[in-house]
Amino acid sequence: MMRIDLQFTPAQIDELTLRDRTVVVIDVLRATSSIVTALTNGAREVIPTATIESAMKIVGNLGGDQALLGGERNGKMVPGFDLGNSPREYTGAKVRGKTIVFSTTNGSQAIVKARYAAELTLCAFINMNAVVRFLRDPARDFIILCAGRNGGFSLEDTVCGGMLIARVSEDQEVQLSDSALAAMSLYRSFGRGILKMMRASEHGKYLEEIGFGDDIKYCATVGSVPVVPMLEGNVIRLRRDAKEPVTPSIVS
Ligand code: MLT
Repeated sequence: MMRIDLQFTPAQIDELTLRDRTVVVIDVLRATSSIVTALTNGAREVIPTATIESAMKIVGNLGGDQALLGGERNGKMVPGFDLGNSPREYTGAKVRGKTIVFSTTNGSQAIVKARYAAELTLCAFINMNAVVRFLRDPARDFIILCAGRNGGFSLEDTVCGGMLIARVSEDQEVQLSDSALAAMSLYRSFGRGILKMMRASEHGKYLEEIGFGDDIKYCATVGSVPVVPMLEGNVIRLRRDAKEPVTPSIVS
């Protein structure tokens, strides 16, 4: 029987607890949506970093024009970076063949915290179906790590986690932790109106306020890209699945 757990925020969990497990990091608005988009549009890899300083150092060490700095603080592009954290910026024209060194307020911190996982994948609504297939074939125990917001709970990450749990557990017996059950219940309440839920969320409202309302719509599209990003060492790359060829660019 599959055992499924979920953490509402990275704050309550220790790095070592995630060690040797299958971990799914979710930051719907917007880090995991942006990374999924960058890789779908041909970025070679994404290197997540906790701090802006380490991102700049890594890009300096990589040298040349093959690496780009991406991410945000307070939702806005960091001065000196090449890209912000709007998934719509990560077009094929900008990212194809590039290494993206990526630092965001919550999402990349959660990924860095889970770096000792046996398998680490990233989920957003946009790649939901592919992650469900990955976790079901073969079936495995896993823990969802919601990136949350500034150390606190985030509705959209939890509802996304709840959708993932509901879909993975269709037609099979699962053992759910209390938090996994609670996330599934939130998904049952909000799942019919993902976009509405995201617009009503604290971070959704903030993104609207600072001019990124269109990102919410983009991030609310369920299953629009069939990709599964995986952390390999310190870099995130697409998991290649013979049954699932990567489709062309989703953002022009
Ligand atoms: C984060 O990692 O905190 C977010 O993705 C914030 C954002 O850019 O919306």
